[in-house]
Amino acid sequence: MRKPFVAGNWKMNLNRAEAVALATAVAAIARENAGVEVGIIPPFVYIDAVVGAVNKAPLGVGAQDVYFEKSGAFTGEISTAMLADLHVKYVLVGHSERRHVLGENDALLNKKLHCVLNAGLTAILCVGETLEQRKAEKTFDVCRTQLVEGLKGVDAAKASQLVVAYEPVWAIGTGLNATKEQAQEVHAFIRKELAGILSQAAAEGMRIQYGGSVKASNAAELMSQPDVDGALVGGAALKAEEFAGIVAAAGKSKA
Ligand code: 13P
Repeated sequence: MRKPFVAGNWKMNLNRAEAVALATAVAAIARENAGVEVGIIPPFVYIDAVVGAVNKAPLGVGAQDVYFEKSGAFTGEISTAMLADLHVKYVLVGHSERRHVLGENDALLNKKLHCVLNAGLTAILCVGETLEQRKAEKTFDVCRTQLVEGLKGVDAAKASQLVVAYEPVWAIGTGLNATKEQAQEVHAFIRKELAGILSQAAAEGMRIQYGGSVKASNAAELMSQPDVDGALVGGAALKAEEFAGIVAAAGKSKA
């Protein structure tokens, strides 16, 4: 039985006071929903303040990115040791905005992923196709490549530190979510691929989150699907009430 996992990716939003207020509200949500793993992923500069606001609540804090080198002359970059020092638990690897806006490729993401795992942190590997790729019926090929290349050299024994997020690029920030059938089809495919890349047991134990225009009103439907184990939420994670609805839906659908 996989514990549902709902994480809010705050992207490049909020100021310090807003981040602390939202983290405080989400900490209460996490306390009320023990059946769901809840995470928040603020901008780097607010991680420290947000961790303080979380206090002892069962709420994990994540980072939106990381650099793969341990330390040194890498101006502007952040290491896993720095994140671990701030009690960060998760790191997003290969979010579509990193791939498509910042130009990160699979080889770089594989280095980042190894670095995250070696530091004992959890990597949330994001995969997903663009609208053009979906129209060209390349969805499975794109997801397979991103999984195979992203997870190259990863030992199945590290599966407990791995989460996959399926985020179709055309659904991110567009208000146009995948239908539950579309999500389930790709999630089942991803799980099958994970079995081949890692192991059957690893694939069965890993959470696969759906991301892309998740809101309180569509969360229950998406998470009713057997291979949808939670959500990676963008815009709706910036509103505590909306996020609470998503977390509650995750708890109910998997109860
Ligand atoms: P939205 O929920 O705003 O579509 O963003 C999804 C996402 O990119 C989460 O990482």
